[in-house]
Amino acid sequence: MDQKAKKTALRGISYGLYIVGTKDDKGVVNGFTGNWLTQTSFEPPLVALAVKAGTRSQEQIAKAGVFSVNILETGKKDMATAFFKSVEPDGNKLAGYEFYTEETGCPIFNDALSFFECKVVDKIEKGDHFIYVGEVINAGVHREGDPMTLKETGFYYGG
Ligand SMILES: Cc1cc2nc3c(=O)[nH]c(=O)nc-3n(C[C@H](O)[C@H](O)[C@H](O)COP(=O)(O)O)c2cc1C
Repeated sequence: MDQKAKKTALRGISYGLYIVGTKDDKGVVNGFTGNWLTQTSFEPPLVALAVKAGTRSQEQIAKAGVFSVNILETGKKDMATAFFKSVEPDGNKLAGYEFYTEETGCPIFNDALSFFECKVVDKIEKGDHFIYVGEVINAGVHREGDPMTLKETGFYYGG
């Protein structure tokens, strides 16, 4: 295979950029920025999320069986950047951003445009990222706005 073409073609996939919320078995919350997310079914509403194998987030999703997805607004690159590294909660803040919880106990950020929460219903634990299929069990909208795209940030994750 032409490696350069593979990289260029795979980087041609369009993505959003989201903060995925997780929690550990004691209910301590965590979050990471991810773009490998897509809806895969209307009924039931399902999404597939790829999570880097061996990270704290991956281990938490595997154990807790739940995650949240926060839809960031266009221009919120600082918020996306804050969750590229491991974060620790400080009261009701993660990386300085206020959150609350609803059904799953995973963080929902006040600054997100909208959010949904998932229960893991299937998984494919192969490759360097593991795929978790989540059924959407709760959702909410904080305000109207345009969602962030990976392209606008100038970051790449794929190839
Ligand atoms: C642009 C960009 C996109 C990313 N997308 C993903 C992703 O889709 N899935 C993933 O597991 N990690 C992704 N990452 C890496 C995570 O943000 C990073 O591994 C995170 O710090 C893991 O947090 P943790 O150590 O608390 O689990 C991405 C990183 C960047 C820079």
